Amino acid sequence: MRLSRYFLPVLKETPAEAQIASHRLMLRAGMIKQSSAGIYSWLPLGHRVLRRIEQIVHEEQQRAGHIPMLMPTLQPADLWKESGRYDAYGPEMLRIRDRQDRDMLYGPTNEEMITDIVRSNVASYKDLPLTLYHIQWKFRDEMRPRFGVMRGREFLMKDGYNFDLTREDALHAYNRHLVSYLRTYERMGLQAIPMRADSGPIGGDDTHEFLVLAETGESEVFYDSEVTDLTFGDRDIDYDDVAQCAGVMEEFTSRYARTDETHDEALFNAIPEARRRTARGIEVGQIFYFGTKYSDAMGATVQGPDGKPVPLHMGSHGIGVSRLLSAIIEANHDDKGIIWPEGVTPFHVGLVNLKQGDGATDAACDGIYQALEAAGLTVLYDDTKDRAGAKFATMDLIGLPWRITVGPRGLAAGKIELTSRRTGESEELAPEEAVARLSEVYAAHR
Ligand SMILES: Nc1ncnc2c1ncn2[C@@H]1O[C@H](COP(=O)(O)OP(=O)(O)OP(=O)(O)O)[C@@H](O)[C@H]1O
Ligand SMILES: [Mg+2]
Repeated sequence: MRLSRYFLPVLKETPAEAQIASHRLMLRAGMIKQSSAGIYSWLPLGHRVLRRIEQIVHEEQQRAGHIPMLMPTLQPADLWKESGRYDAYGPEMLRIRDRQDRDMLYGPTNEEMITDIVRSNVASYKDLPLTLYHIQWKFRDEMRPRFGVMRGREFLMKDGYNFDLTREDALHAYNRHLVSYLRTYERMGLQAIPMRADSGPIGGDDTHEFLVLAETGESEVFYDSEVTDLTFGDRDIDYDDVAQCAGVMEEFTSRYARTDETHDEALFNAIPEARRRTARGIEVGQIFYFGTKYSDAMGATVQGPDGKPVPLHMGSHGIGVSRLLSAIIEANHDDKGIIWPEGVTPFHVGLVNLKQGDGATDAACDGIYQALEAAGLTVLYDDTKDRAGAKFATMDLIGLPWRITVGPRGLAAGKIELTSRRTGESEELAPEEAVARLSEVYAAHR
């Protein structure tokens, strides 16, 4: 992509309404534009990151054996009356009436709709286990939408639903989701810690929230510092292996880590004092096992091995896809701008031409651009006539992890400059060496 032909409306001024870094930086980097409170347009740069995050979520869900589909944003109220949640949900639900006077709503989540689909189409225990998911816009009329896409009213969520014959099978699905979420967040360069969370009205049920530690997080969290030493890494995992998934679950959730809703002073104080941590976190996902709550209410049964009807055991599992952009930026920025982790960057590399219009420099940039693209790397080429300082400031603001700078002086010695956004360190290299280096760096993020 050539910057001269792109749409990147960067702002010079810091927008006054933005209180936290991620919101400020997303506005300044021309990634989003508010259309009304908590509702945003995704401008091209923001849209690229959003799509990248979605793609990682898709890949990891399908790796775990979960099946993608797509349900509509608008739902009939009747389904929610069946489950009893139409009245229970309250003013966060956006209720709409169509021209036939039918009650509709903009879905805040999809348990009812998916249960309806499964009860109509799944008859036998032989069709289980089944986990379906989609990535779709949600609407919750939040009391205080704020911090940009961190707490929007319209937001993009991955929500998945498992259907199993037994509680044991459903708990395996729960563990499988935990494992796949750990992988998903790590690929985005994030540490998201599973923490025991509020199980809501149904006591005894399992639920964990995934939290990214950040001062600006809205949740108060309490944990044993040992949890931050855990990483999933690139270990092999067989998602059908019940014991292996349970082992990962045990490894990542046996130490104390809770949100304020479930915090227990006595248990917390049993940890050695030096390891007790109180901090703030951003909730980027939640997994939930709720047994037969919806299948009982909505009559979702299958024929069991003995021919008798059995209510389905279910869980639901959400990832805040659009919120993840904010969380990633909160965890990865400095005073110059965003620092994208390689896994989610909107472009792999920024190419800066220091002397646009100079025949030799332009030709060298064109050659490098083509070589990078041939290597499967995406490039944002600043081919504008702006001054070098302005070009660097824009690149630093939008946060591409790598920058290649091309100028007549370096070219005379056959060199360009390769700069890491994270460390600020630069190296003089031959153009083909820089391309090879970047191919290597990104090979780990394909
Ligand atoms: N208003 C919102 N804006 C952006 N993302 C959201 C919003 N509400 C929820 N999410 C994301 O969707 C995920 C799954 O939804 P869930 O129903 O668990 O949300 P929630 O627990 O109500 O979130 P919160 O406590 O932050 O309001 C959350 O973990 C979060 O990452
Ligand atoms: Mg939640």
